[in-house]
Amino acid sequence: MSPRRIAIDSENGRYEVVYGAAILSGAGIRTKSLGENSGVFLLCSPRVARHWRAKLERSLRSAGLRRTLIFDDREEAKNIATVERVCRELVRAGADRRALIVAAGGGVVGDVAGFVAASYLRGVGLVHIPTTLVAQVDSAIGGKTGVNLPEGKNLVGAFYSPRLVLADPVTLSTLPDREFRSGLYEIIKYGVIADERLFAFLENSIGPLAKRDVKALDFVIPRCIQAKARVVSRDERESGLREILNFGHTFAHAFETATAYRKYLHGEAVGWGMIAASRLAGRMRLLAAENVDRIERLVRRVGPLPSLPSAKPSRLVEIMHADKKVRGGKLRLVLTRKIGTAETFGPIAPKLVTEVLDHLDRET
Ligand SMILES: NC(=O)c1ccc[n+]([C@@H]2O[C@H](COP(=O)([O-])OP(=O)(O)OC[C@H]3O[C@@H](n4cnc5c(N)ncnc54)[C@H](O)[C@@H]3O)[C@@H](O)[C@H]2O)c1
Ligand SMILES: [Zn+2]
Repeated sequence: MSPRRIAIDSENGRYEVVYGAAILSGAGIRTKSLGENSGVFLLCSPRVARHWRAKLERSLRSAGLRRTLIFDDREEAKNIATVERVCRELVRAGADRRALIVAAGGGVVGDVAGFVAASYLRGVGLVHIPTTLVAQVDSAIGGKTGVNLPEGKNLVGAFYSPRLVLADPVTLSTLPDREFRSGLYEIIKYGVIADERLFAFLENSIGPLAKRDVKALDFVIPRCIQAKARVVSRDERESGLREILNFGHTFAHAFETATAYRKYLHGEAVGWGMIAASRLAGRMRLLAAENVDRIERLVRRVGPLPSLPSAKPSRLVEIMHADKKVRGGKLRLVLTRKIGTAETFGPIAPKLVTEVLDHLDRET
């Protein structure tokens, strides 16, 4: 199959996401076609380097590869100190204003390298090569970059669009199972909020997809990229439409915060969050009971979720009040009335949310 190309309209112009098996070997040619640069700097993590460095370097040589910089991409190291370290290495490696950064890795590498590209010499060129499922369907698209502070996640950053995104499903072959499954929850999210056909496909094919069936991936990944492209192209900043990408996430962030980010991979927390949001929509009589069940069944078929946090539901609801969507102290949540659509609802009575959380570990 020839590569798929999906255009994204951003504030600083249009860029393309190219999706296709084995396109990594053409990364150099595609990068070169973006125009002159004074040197390509490949940024990646130790694990990505172990599996893909040789291939990436071979390909990027033709685009003017100058140096490969490897940095720690654990969530604990997604911070300003890492940004400073990478920037200093760039200075020492002679990167000037016309340098081009190629970020190869998961969401952490993309967020850190993206923020470096946005701020180094007030902005240098950026190409994303996402190598996790989460990064291919989500974090490499939409221009959000940034790092964490001890006070919270992603609190410092910038909107900064790449010049190109290259998503090669072959790179997913080296991803650990749990990481891969974590991405499947975000894929289900796109089905619920924006693409009923995708949701129906997932109901039929979640088994093969979980086994990384190439055909299933080829259908699903570009479809998610398209869904995200539609949402962020119309509304690049966090307002209005973009909020729907947060489906399941207000709950998820509370679960992650309550467990100090140690218990869940992000997608797993989103899995629980989508079950909670669907049950809440059912309780509010927005979503028919059969559709609540469809969403919950699909989420559970991805695999076993880690148990719920031991924190009391009232504490979780308290944490949910720190969400960006809260207005005047009132809870607002993204919910669905019909699979394939979503919107923000509020104010929502905390009591309703507590009730949903009270019974969340009980299968319906
Ligand atoms: N900017 C956005 O819009 C956005 C959206 C969603 C998530 N995020 C951020 O993304 C991060 C999560 O990203 P993630 O889920 O991709 O995980 P990750 O970046 O933490 O990567 C997980 C692990 O897999 C390794 N890895 C990456 N690709 C691999 C491959 N092909 N083979 C083997 N190992 C590989 C990484 O080195 C890392 O150790 C979070 O920090 C989150 O805040 C950002
Ligand atoms: Zn997410």
